[in-house]
Amino acid sequence: MPESDLTADASLGSGGSFWTTKAVGGLPPIMLTDGPHGVRKQQGSVDHLGLAASVPATCFPPLAGLGQSWDVDLVAAVGAALGRECQQQDVRVLLGPGINIRRSPLGGRNFEYLSEDPHISGVLGAAWVRGVQGEGVGTSLKHYALNNQEDDRMRVSADVDPRPLREVYLRGFRRVVQDAQPWTVMCSYNRVNGVHVSQDPFLLTRVLRDEWGFAGVVVSDWGAVRDRVAAVAAGLDLQMPYDGGAGDAAVVAAVENGALDAAAVERAAARVTALVEKATAAQRSDVTVDADAHHELAREAASRSIVLIRNDGDLLPLTPAGSIAVIGEFARTPRYQGGGSSHVNATRVDIPIDEIRSAAAEADITFAPGFTVDGSGPDGALVDEAVAIAADSDVAVVFLGLDASQESEGFDRESIDLPAEQLDLLAAVAAVQPRVVVVLQHGGVVRLAPVVPVAAAMIDGALLGQGGGAAIARVLFGAVNPSARLTETVPLRLEETPAFLDFPGEHQHVRYGEGLFVGYRWYDTRGLDVTFPFGHGLSYTTFGYDGLEVRAEGESIRVAVRVTNTGSRAGREIVQVYAAVPGSAQVRVPRALVGFAAVELEPSEQRRVEVVVDRRDLEYWDIRVDRFVLEPGTYEISVGASSRDLRASATVDLVGDTVTVPLTVESTIGEAMAHPIAGPVLRQVLPAPPTSEDGGDGLGVDMARMMASIPLERAIAMSGGAATREQLEQLLAVANAAPPVGGDAPEPAGSPPVD
Ligand code: BGC
Repeated sequence: MPESDLTADASLGSGGSFWTTKAVGGLPPIMLTDGPHGVRKQQGSVDHLGLAASVPATCFPPLAGLGQSWDVDLVAAVGAALGRECQQQDVRVLLGPGINIRRSPLGGRNFEYLSEDPHISGVLGAAWVRGVQGEGVGTSLKHYALNNQEDDRMRVSADVDPRPLREVYLRGFRRVVQDAQPWTVMCSYNRVNGVHVSQDPFLLTRVLRDEWGFAGVVVSDWGAVRDRVAAVAAGLDLQMPYDGGAGDAAVVAAVENGALDAAAVERAAARVTALVEKATAAQRSDVTVDADAHHELAREAASRSIVLIRNDGDLLPLTPAGSIAVIGEFARTPRYQGGGSSHVNATRVDIPIDEIRSAAAEADITFAPGFTVDGSGPDGALVDEAVAIAADSDVAVVFLGLDASQESEGFDRESIDLPAEQLDLLAAVAAVQPRVVVVLQHGGVVRLAPVVPVAAAMIDGALLGQGGGAAIARVLFGAVNPSARLTETVPLRLEETPAFLDFPGEHQHVRYGEGLFVGYRWYDTRGLDVTFPFGHGLSYTTFGYDGLEVRAEGESIRVAVRVTNTGSRAGREIVQVYAAVPGSAQVRVPRALVGFAAVELEPSEQRRVEVVVDRRDLEYWDIRVDRFVLEPGTYEISVGASSRDLRASATVDLVGDTVTVPLTVESTIGEAMAHPIAGPVLRQVLPAPPTSEDGGDGLGVDMARMMASIPLERAIAMSGGAATREQLEQLLAVANAAPPVGGDAPEPAGSPPVD
């Protein structure tokens, strides 16, 4: 390659400034900026920690809130609005969505992520990408991959086994890439199984491009690149931000001294060029943003994201009359987004107490802050004031939650408890007022076991963005019938959470010891009680399910069920579909979310809801053949209103894939017996194991089962010469030469048998 081309190509591979690519040749620079729930475009000083100011932009609900809507169309509509704001601000790539799995409730950045479940993360992540990109603005799917904690995030190695890697942590990324083709994917800071993601050819090339067909640009998280030469070789295209030119120079030198293939640099440059060309071609100068309309969309999105988690005695919705005590600093100073790089400078913020006052103009509404959020600790006078107004009112609405200092990008939480002063305040209020409604504002999950006994009603919007205040008022007084669902289990205790023993790890390693059993998969497998299960959420009406039909359609499953609004208000039900494989030969979770759909119904109205379950949600990763496999057999499909409120189940048989693993001398007698060729031969030559009928069970063991685990070569050695190694090798040659029966699994060259 001529030197000038090499220099130009290398320089395309790193930022020209904190937020832009480089102008190289005739190519203009383009701006990439955060994301995800609003446009954070900085104009003066720049940083990736959300410190310096950015231009005003609509602050939609962060993904922890928005995800609770389980609403694909709404998420796409928010994406489209974000895309328009980007066009107006000359932003060409919005850095989101963040779809990492919420592995532990302690994860400091959980508020930026969608769920503990990969299906909903993938489906909603894809909707968000489609929405933004539909407006001609790129996205950056992040943080690829396994950035599930903030502690030591730039060094820690997520040490994970292949099945959870594929079935839990990469599953959502795969869906977004395959279904929505984000223009860019952002590689994470951390290491995976010892390798820095920014220089991992397995993740950046083999999985992302070769397996999933990703055709866009891999961009580094800001400052994630340690060794640019290794990164380019692994498949990284764009190092962000500008590093003073050191990375470009290292790339040029590495090509010149033969350490780096020039073709890798050319490929990366071609991808960045294609991105810049696509983005500039899609640039629109005619886009104007109607700030009022976007604020209204933010309110609608927030309304859809509020989960009614408890409503004893139908305390909610409240009548907008009588006397209402509103308690808690968050009613006056709402917590509506998280801290760090996603922090948006909202165009305006709805204040809950103001919105409550205007929604219930006839009511006598009093307010007391009850506690502070400035870290100054308990304040008896504030509690007394709150108790006094609660005692004098018909109902108390108590705002509780986490303040900005308790969770942020950059560090993990140490506890999932609400602050003690808030719980004490709640207890004091409940002692004088039996009608207590709790409104929660928080990013990561909080322990609600102490709240349940004293709060007859609870609504939880996580973080709701700038329209949260109005949305809360709409739900409290019934202008909106809540329909959101939890995307994360609320556990009874931190000690019972799946990653408790392995979070955040030590000495730069964190072991994903819970394996496949993340989120509800863990609580369900262990039969643990939880405070509120994954998928939970109530409505001001009720729904009935009947007429479940389940049938196989090729490799998919078509599920249909009739849903009836059995209550007296119009409402929206989220029909959730879970799958189990009861007779599986693999380690399996008791049920996993494989689909969902929303239906809006007037009172007494019925509708048939259909969900097509994609084979990708049924497959397991088979480590013997290193690929996803659809296991043949019977699948149990359940539909219901949450992971623990299943209303109907039916089974369906799938043909599935046949996995043929070559027999070797290390295969066991049991494996050989199960083989279609070797099995019949062995049954002829092996002595039948003694049974109780012939008095041969004197050892008190099931001989057939005991022999099944003996490797073939060990059996030969123990046969005392009755069988020889040559005979065994002949048998293996015949068995392995046979074509796989009805299967499509590739023969893995030299793949060892798996025990
Ligand atoms: C965050 C990214 C963000 C980037 C740019 C990093 O600290 O991890 O999510 O997009 O900064 O602000």
